[in-house]
Amino acid sequence: MTFSENSKLGELLSNEEAITVLEKHLPGISTNPMASMGKSFTLKQLSGIPQANIPEELISMILSDLSNIPIGEPASSQQNAPSESSQEPLLMNGLVAIVTGAGGGIGRASSLKLSQSGFKIVAVDFNTATGEETVNLISAQGGEGIFIQADVSKEEDVERYTRAAVDAYGRIDVFFNNAGILQKFSLLEDLDVSEFDRIMNVNVRGVFLGLKKVLKVMNAQGFGSIINTASTAGIRAEHSMAAYTASKHAVIGLTKAAAIEYVRKGVRVNAICPGGVDTALTQSVPMMMQESGYMPEEFPNMRIGRFAEPTEIAEIVVFLASDKSAYLTGSIIAVDGGLTL
Ligand SMILES: NC(=O)c1ccc[n+]([C@@H]2O[C@H](COP(=O)([O-])OP(=O)(O)OC[C@H]3O[C@@H](n4cnc5c(N)ncnc54)[C@H](O)[C@@H]3O)[C@@H](O)[C@H]2O)c1
Repeated sequence: MTFSENSKLGELLSNEEAITVLEKHLPGISTNPMASMGKSFTLKQLSGIPQANIPEELISMILSDLSNIPIGEPASSQQNAPSESSQEPLLMNGLVAIVTGAGGGIGRASSLKLSQSGFKIVAVDFNTATGEETVNLISAQGGEGIFIQADVSKEEDVERYTRAAVDAYGRIDVFFNNAGILQKFSLLEDLDVSEFDRIMNVNVRGVFLGLKKVLKVMNAQGFGSIINTASTAGIRAEHSMAAYTASKHAVIGLTKAAAIEYVRKGVRVNAICPGGVDTALTQSVPMMMQESGYMPEEFPNMRIGRFAEPTEIAEIVVFLASDKSAYLTGSIIAVDGGLTL
């Protein structure tokens, strides 16, 4: 097997011989931070983006040079990727965690990891098929969970998933307030009001509603740990992502506001700020750019040289869920491979 026009940039950048070919035609590409951001682009997609400025003829020349290289195991860029942890999981048997956005990437990985740590999972997602799949995966690994279909931006749905958790298990120990969506790239002046509202509805209103309903339960219990998913876009601006940036700054504001109100009531509220994580959300970026024909002038610098695996974010979620983080509240934790340095 050899590389084709459907080979992803990330695959090419994991092969020493392919890097040599790429460098011959596109000098500097292997060290360009934009390339590490665009690892899920195929060569075909790259040629379709006008701003990338890679003529189709050049892609043909690259492909011709690549056609003699046998595809081997990914090497350099994956060297520091995580291996399956051999550590004993934290055991929190019988505790209950609600996870929103449980049908995908970070939410699914965290649901599975929390389940391995002993939590019963109330998996919430808009998407019934993927949400149910997460619960099946939990059962397959010997855990327990239920799926609740809900749109986190609708108050009645948030009320319903909160009540479902209490009805099923009688308590909520942990709330991973995670569901969120990415905006379509555009300059602020071109940002449609409807797109701004769509992002704010899910990323801010959804997080707010979750806090509002679950805090009531946790306050009455006198215990609980809440983890909100913000982003590095909540700490710094992301080019061509004004709505997403504003929404994630708001998540950090809500985290601090909630933390200060409940600091003496036994409820901790923290936020995590992932940088680039390999999920459906980031995998949609190349297609989004190709469809719009618009490319931001800047991309975040993924200094560590790779995306995070969702399981690496899940490890932090489990830590924040556990008593090991008992002194943390109102903390805004970057899990970003140095992106915000
Ligand atoms: N992937 C990254 O690089 C990255 C970086 C920083 C922050 N984040 C944040 O992490 C969170 C999870 O992202 P991910 O990368 O796992 O994305 P993902 O798209 O893989 O998963 C998100 C899940 O949320 C669900 N969802 C979306 N809108 C919903 C709604 N209105 N109601 C209920 N469920 C809904 C989706 O169906 C999906 O299953 C988001 O808040 C995102 O902004 C992701």
